Amino acid sequence: MSGTSVDAIDSALVRCRDNRVEILATHQHTIPPKYKQQIAAISHSGPDEIERMGILDRELGRLFAEATLQLLEGAGINSRQVEAIGSHGQTIRHRPPSATQHKRDSFTLQIGDPNTIAELTGITTVADFRRRDVAAGGEGAPLAPAFHAAAFAEPGVNRAIVNIGGIANATILVGCELRMGFDTGPGNTLLDHWIYRHRGESYDRDGAWSACGQVNQSLLERLMKHPYFQQQGPRSTGKEAFNLAWLDGHLEGFPDISPEDVQATLLCLTADSIALAIKSTALEIPEVYVCGGGSHNIRLMEKLAAQLAPAKLASTVELGIDPDWVEAATFAWLASRTLKGLKGNSEVVTGAVGARVLGGVYWGGSQASG
Ligand SMILES: Nc1ncnc2c1ncn2[C@@H]1O[C@H](COP(=O)(O)OP(=O)(O)OP(=O)(O)O)[C@@H](O)[C@H]1O
Ligand SMILES: [Mg+2]
Repeated sequence: MSGTSVDAIDSALVRCRDNRVEILATHQHTIPPKYKQQIAAISHSGPDEIERMGILDRELGRLFAEATLQLLEGAGINSRQVEAIGSHGQTIRHRPPSATQHKRDSFTLQIGDPNTIAELTGITTVADFRRRDVAAGGEGAPLAPAFHAAAFAEPGVNRAIVNIGGIANATILVGCELRMGFDTGPGNTLLDHWIYRHRGESYDRDGAWSACGQVNQSLLERLMKHPYFQQQGPRSTGKEAFNLAWLDGHLEGFPDISPEDVQATLLCLTADSIALAIKSTALEIPEVYVCGGGSHNIRLMEKLAAQLAPAKLASTVELGIDPDWVEAATFAWLASRTLKGLKGNSEVVTGAVGARVLGGVYWGGSQASG
């Protein structure tokens, strides 16, 4: 798994049994800076795109294979003991139907060639999970809610599961029923890009820098006017909608604002938009569990807890899965569903005309070189 933050490749060795997953080993694999730059560059239009994408697709396939082999080496596991790799790929474009004027122009694109992964590891690789959902009229995202329902639902209890990655998404569980799931808007992406611009740091550890600033209410109100926050029903978003160019447009009205104040305001934007999305379900949700890197941002968690009170806010570790490995486990689980011929998406979440078996299968084999 490599998400919109492009912070690292998360690889997890997961045992899937029935609907339960058990994480046996984990490995966080560094993404070399040159690939981070190339991913950032290919994520918007530019010259020679097909050439650059073709090369990066293969490079990331090699990197994902390397991440897998190092995970297995550390765990003392042979590749023949592994049934499959579930590879999400690196999203380089996400243009879902909800953000597209003509629905037939919608598409989503993840790269990291699964042929290369299967070739170098010898392990059957399941990949390209999102495009089948888009083909069936869905958003292609979020896909995590079906896994959240399988792993975290409790009969008779209403819960929200919130994943705060680059973009944040929420799953609404009414007992064991998956009632809703949607992206809520920016998670860490704006916070990461803003601190990088001003301090050269890749993220605001524990939200410490944001704590040096004051929330600018007038800027916050403007940012909260983004039409995405008013959308209802199946919806998903990406860096296409929430990026520094969008922020800069709004900052023109605030020439004297300090960078710290902007960071404090962005942190509030993430917390407020998550809380708004949960509250707008009009359901009583007494428990909210958080996963993803944003769950380590202490200031963000404090803000979110205040916004959601009196609901309980906790980490998914309380439900048995470390918040850093939920996304990786999701794609292991989805791969196991695909190989069993089971459906992986949920039409109530993505708006697809129906649930589908997701992804393509790239068979492993004895010809493995790596
Ligand atoms: N201690 C911390 N304090 C503040 N932020 C943190 C901390 N640890 C991680 N993060 C944030 O979490 C981000 C990484 O989160 P994560 O890996 O869940 O996102 P992602 O790769 O975008 O995943 P996805 O899009 O699939 O949800 C980092 O870029 C950083 O912003
Ligand atoms: Mg990540």
